Amino acid sequence: TPPFPRYTRAEVAQHRTPADRVWVTYGTDVFDVTEFVELHPGGPDKILLAAGGALEPFWALYAVHSEPHVLELLREYKVGELSPEEAAPPPGDSADPFAGDPPRHPALRVNSAKPFNAEPPPELLTQSFLTPNELFFTRNHLPVPAVDAASYRLRVEGPGGRALSLSLAELRRRFPKHEVTATLQCAGNRRSEMSRVRPVKGLAWDIGAISTARWGGARLRDVLLAAGVRDSTENGEWHVCFEGLDADASGTPYGASIPLKRALSADAEVLLAYEMNGRELPRDHGFPVRVVVPGVVGARSVKWLRSVAVSPEESPSHWQQNDYKGFCPSVDWDSVDFGAAPAIQELPVQSAITEPRPGAAVPAGELTVKGYAWSGGGREVVRV
Ligand code: HEM
Ligand code: MTE
Repeated sequence: TPPFPRYTRAEVAQHRTPADRVWVTYGTDVFDVTEFVELHPGGPDKILLAAGGALEPFWALYAVHSEPHVLELLREYKVGELSPEEAAPPPGDSADPFAGDPPRHPALRVNSAKPFNAEPPPELLTQSFLTPNELFFTRNHLPVPAVDAASYRLRVEGPGGRALSLSLAELRRRFPKHEVTATLQCAGNRRSEMSRVRPVKGLAWDIGAISTARWGGARLRDVLLAAGVRDSTENGEWHVCFEGLDADASGTPYGASIPLKRALSADAEVLLAYEMNGRELPRDHGFPVRVVVPGVVGARSVKWLRSVAVSPEESPSHWQQNDYKGFCPSVDWDSVDFGAAPAIQELPVQSAITEPRPGAAVPAGELTVKGYAWSGGGREVVRV
C-alpha cells in the first residue's frame, strides 16, 4: 500500500457533490466514491446523504453493508487517510443550556439547532415502514433534560388527592407491557409548502415531521385506574394533564392534555412508553418515559414525563392554551383569539410523495413513486 495523503475532516467535508467529487470516510480511511455513486444498489440519492462525512452512522442503519464484499468494493476507492490529529470534537460550552443535548444522526435535516428540531430526508423516511430511532423526526421546545433512570419517579395524581409515585422498575413491573405501532406527526408538518400558499409562522418543516415506531409501555388506562380514577361517565368532560421534565428559564415545564375519555379508552391505546422499536427511549424522544397518543397531534405525546394529573380543566400550559390550536382560514395574527379556539387533538388525513422529489430529473419510462399515507385519528388506512 502506498503512503496515502492525509486529510482533515474539514477537507473531506468539501467533497459533497459529483462536481466537487464525492468523498466519504470509514474508520480513518478516506474514499473518493464519485464513480460509484451511479452504481450504488441503494440509489445515488442515498449515497449522497453521506457525502463529505462518515459512512458509519448510515451503515449502522442499513445492515446490507456489513458484508465483506461491500468493504472490498469500498477499498478500491481509497484516496487518503485522516490526519492523526483529528481528535474528538471540542467539549461543549457549559454556559449553553443546550450543551447537554445528545449527539444526533448526520442525515437529519435540521430546521432549528437550539432547541433541536429536525426531520429525516424523505427518501429515508419511506425506506422502511418503521422509522429507525436515529432518523425519527425530533420536535423539542427546550433543552433535552438529563434524567437519571435510577432515581426517576413518575407522579400520578388521581381524584380526591390520591397520588402514586412510580419508579421506572415499578412502571414496568406493576402494569402489563403493551405494544402499539403508531405514527407521530407534528402539526407543523409540510409548513414550508403551506407557506407557499400563504405565509405561516413557525419552523419550515418539509414533509418529514412525521415518523412511525413500535412503542412499548404501560397503558395510561391501567395506570389511571391504579391511581383510583373511575371509568364512569360522571367525569366525561375531564382531562388528563401531562408535564415534562424539560423546563424553560423560569422553571415552567412543557405540558399538554388529552380528554380523559380518550385516556381511559381501551381502543385509543394511549401509552406511557418506555420502549421505541424494541430499545429504551432515546434521549431526544423522551427517555425514560413518554406519552404516546395514537392519531393525535404530536404535541400531546409529552416526552420526559414527570407527572400525570386528572383535572376538570385542560392543561394550563402555554402549549395547550396558546399554541397548537385550530383556526378557520379567515383568522390572522391581528384577529386571533387563542382562548376561543379549540386545542388540536386528532389530526386529519395526510399523504405525501417522498420519491421522486419536486423538481427532480427522472429517466424516461417506468418510474417507481414512493410516499406515505396516514389516516389520522388513530384509525386504519382503508385505501390510498
Ligand atoms: C445497498 C454499497 C452508502 C443505503 C448497497 C449495496 C452495496 C452498497 C454494495 C448492495 C448490498 C447487497 O445487496 O449485497 C455502498 C457503498 C456506499 C454506500 C460502497 C458508500 C461509499 C450508502 C448510504 C446509504 C446506503 C450512505 C444510506 C443513506 C443503502 C440501501 C441499500 C444499499 C438502503 C439497499 C437497497 C435496497 O435493496 O433497497 N449499498 N453503499 N448506502 N445501500 Fe449502500
Ligand atoms: N414533550 C416535551 N416534554 N417537550 C416537548 O418539547 N414536543 C412535542 C411532543 N412532546 C415536546 C414534547 C411536540 S410538538 C411533538 S410534535 C412531539 O413531542 C415530537 O415527538 P418526537 O420529538 O419524539 O418526534
